[in-house]
Amino acid sequence: MKVLYCVSEAVPYVKTGGLADVAGSLPGALRDLGHEVRLVLPRYRPIPRENLTPLFPLRIEVGGAPVSGLVLEGRSPSGIPVYFVDCPRFFDRGGLYGEGGRDYPDNLLRFAFFSRAAVAIAAQAFPPDLVHCNDWHTGLIPAYLHQRERAGQRSWPTLLTIHNIGMQGLFPAAEFPGLGLLEDYFGPDGLEFWGKVNCLRAGLVFADVLNTVSETYAKEIQTAEFGAGLEGLLSRRSRDLFGVLNGVDYGQWDPRVDAHLPARYGPDDLDGKRFCKRALQQDGGLEPLPYAPLLGMVSRLTDQKGCDLVAAVLPALLKQGVQFVLLGTGDPRYHALFSHLARTHPRQVVAALTFDEPLAHRIEAGADLFLMPSRYEPSGLNQLYSLRYATIPVVRRTGGLADSVVDATPEAVDDGTATGFVFDDYTPPAFLAALDRALSAFRDPVLWRRIQQAGMRADFSWGRSAGRYAALYREAVGRRVGGLAGETA
Ligand code: ADP
Ligand code: GLC
Repeated sequence: MKVLYCVSEAVPYVKTGGLADVAGSLPGALRDLGHEVRLVLPRYRPIPRENLTPLFPLRIEVGGAPVSGLVLEGRSPSGIPVYFVDCPRFFDRGGLYGEGGRDYPDNLLRFAFFSRAAVAIAAQAFPPDLVHCNDWHTGLIPAYLHQRERAGQRSWPTLLTIHNIGMQGLFPAAEFPGLGLLEDYFGPDGLEFWGKVNCLRAGLVFADVLNTVSETYAKEIQTAEFGAGLEGLLSRRSRDLFGVLNGVDYGQWDPRVDAHLPARYGPDDLDGKRFCKRALQQDGGLEPLPYAPLLGMVSRLTDQKGCDLVAAVLPALLKQGVQFVLLGTGDPRYHALFSHLARTHPRQVVAALTFDEPLAHRIEAGADLFLMPSRYEPSGLNQLYSLRYATIPVVRRTGGLADSVVDATPEAVDDGTATGFVFDDYTPPAFLAALDRALSAFRDPVLWRRIQQAGMRADFSWGRSAGRYAALYREAVGRRVGGLAGETA
């Protein structure tokens, strides 16, 4: 099947979170299953124009005036063809979505331009069997395709993947006319959401098939607690909504081959992990104590990720002699909180408040425990990485965390399936109780090794999930064919 995969970030070009990891690895896994996948990505500043081939010019009306751009073609290091939407006015900037903690004020126009460029690519360069959209940045594509179809122009089936319902792309209604959509697209059956333009909603209404990145999250977002106001629409479309857990690119994330680590290791020989721990302690100025439990966290510092829970339990844990290494950026409130902790506990706490890919790998390898007490977690990748790195995850039972980590109950330990520590209530005592269980397991080397081994052997490679995406593509295409047949009958 020919798939045009439209996304706002992808490894190895640009990354702010897990979306980029997925976009950097799922297309290759689909290719391995025999599909032809091509990526569409904005050409941001860090992506050099050299080695890219100009394909065709763009002239798209957004915000009431024509904006010019260019489609450039390249190939990713893993051999996936990539169409870059080049428009310096919108994408040659210091950030992807904003700078200094503030979103760019013209984000609606930027991603409307990008979405319409993706449609132009489908029409002029690569007519696909299906367009795969991801998150709000490409949520307008199904609406544009719907409008084309109404006008008798060629259109294509669509799948929209929801990576995070908390980010919907909300903009003032006054900006709607700048999108080039007919007036009736702004309404309760369209993009409108409490008087605003909602880009994700456009995709949720008009895409043929929807999915999110774990089965549990697919159920959760149909409830008021997790649906962020879109639960009604999602429940109405529940027969079109599926859950597919993310996979891991073990070419990048495996301690046996990871070039970022000071030593490598695997399930049969964990010596290298001890070395990685010592190096992490030394680099961070922590006491080089092999028996001090080292807790790691690599995360966007937002409310989603449970940063407040971590801050609440840390003082008690530090008294017990644990060490904590955090890598993350985000909410200034959390920057202040964690840098204060690092200042007051220099031999026990490291707070690296930057974006640092090699350090993310070294924390995965050097830590004993990995913290992911998320309030919600559509899939999560770091817990999957942690399992492979023998860094036992402590997670809340939500979304993809619930679907990937098996709590170390006595039964699960006995039958060898336990891979981590899971808690339910989003409260400091519940989190602390899970950490207490984890820390006592840490003091029992036989038990600890058993849990580590089970995690290291778990297989979250993309093959299975890619197969499920292929099935969703067939579903979306089939519905169109079925729909048309139904109409002509
Ligand atoms: P999310 O996409 O919600 O941020 P995921 O667990 O799916 O969460 O993926 C996060 C990805 O971003 C992981 O690859 C993680 O290592 C990476 N990451 C997050 N923060 C940083 C950071 N400050 N430096 C380096 N990598 C980071
Ligand atoms: C989002 C989610 C995360 C998921 C990632 C990739 O950022 O927060 O859980 O793993 O997208 O799908």
